[in-house]
Amino acid sequence: MRAVQYQRYGGPEVLEIAEVEEPHAAAGQVRIRVHAAGVNAADWKMRDGAFSGGTPLAKPAGVGLDAAGVVDEIGDGVTGVHVGDRVFGSGRATVAELAVLTDWARMPHHVSFAEAAATPVPIDTAVRMLAAVDAHEGDTVVISGAAGGVGTAAIQLARSRGMIVIGTASAANQEYVEALGALHTTYDDGWADRVRALAVAEVNVGLDVAGAGVLPQLIELTGDPAKVVSIADFSAPGLGAKVTTGGGDKRAALEEAVRLFESGDLRMIVEETYSIEQTPEAQRVSKAGHLRGRAVVEVVR
Ligand SMILES: NC(=O)c1ccc[n+]([C@@H]2O[C@H](COP(=O)([O-])OP(=O)(O)OC[C@H]3O[C@@H](n4cnc5c(N)ncnc54)[C@H](OP(=O)(O)O)[C@@H]3O)[C@@H](O)[C@H]2O)c1
Repeated sequence: MRAVQYQRYGGPEVLEIAEVEEPHAAAGQVRIRVHAAGVNAADWKMRDGAFSGGTPLAKPAGVGLDAAGVVDEIGDGVTGVHVGDRVFGSGRATVAELAVLTDWARMPHHVSFAEAAATPVPIDTAVRMLAAVDAHEGDTVVISGAAGGVGTAAIQLARSRGMIVIGTASAANQEYVEALGALHTTYDDGWADRVRALAVAEVNVGLDVAGAGVLPQLIELTGDPAKVVSIADFSAPGLGAKVTTGGGDKRAALEEAVRLFESGDLRMIVEETYSIEQTPEAQRVSKAGHLRGRAVVEVVR
């Protein structure tokens, strides 16, 4: 089968389409015929070698953590899903014709493969962030970096849980953030004062999604470092704030996404779709850092 892979760390040029062995679903897993795969920042960070600790790649690495497609193989012990079901979820090497998923949920009928593929990492991350700061109904939540994949999921998740959201985004994305249900301002100078002016009551929690060096302001806005969490600025613990990098219940997060899709409270916006051959370009655009929602590789077009 065809899959995108790389044999050494580097820029988008190291990506190649290769004929590789088909993966198989081990116990507790399903294999899908991939229709679409979401492009996450982790894809190009891994490709760059950001998580390698300087050790060269030992064997070719696949690309992609999220996908949506049709189940074609079921591992031992898996129940509640059948060959032919449309599912979306998380795995490894998902930018391929076939991929194994470790966590998945069924796709609501009205959701496209591209939209479903855009969802797993963003919803899981948004759920973890709100849990890390113990956010509750009625809280005012500030999201720094509201227009990207995680921000898109986090705004809608927080709104569905009865929170008031104030998001920061570039001037070009103000209407986008508003359409998702958040109050909004740009992130240039004076943003924290503008957030204070928008908040009808006190700001209760701060979510640092973009990792743009705003932790001190978020701590000042909430008045409590324990109410601030980052996914991209690892100076947070030194300031008393939190970092989350994983460890959540991915299946529960996917099920929450299904409920929100069905109630009409969640839309994952796919700014651009790419063919499998265009995966390097999709990663380039993701790395440029101003995507609205997600970029998605459509393996079947
Ligand atoms: N730790 C974890 O578990 C975890 C999980 C997922 C992602 N992440 C990391 O979290 C970061 C965001 O992920 P993502 O998937 O949301 O990325 P993304 O989809 O690429 O979105 C990034 C967003 O950041 C915004 N942005 C750029 N500069 C900004 C600034 N100075 N202030 C505020 N917003 C700014 C951009 O919006 P504008 O166009 O409006 O500027 C863009 O939409 C990445 O570094 C990713 O690796 C970590």
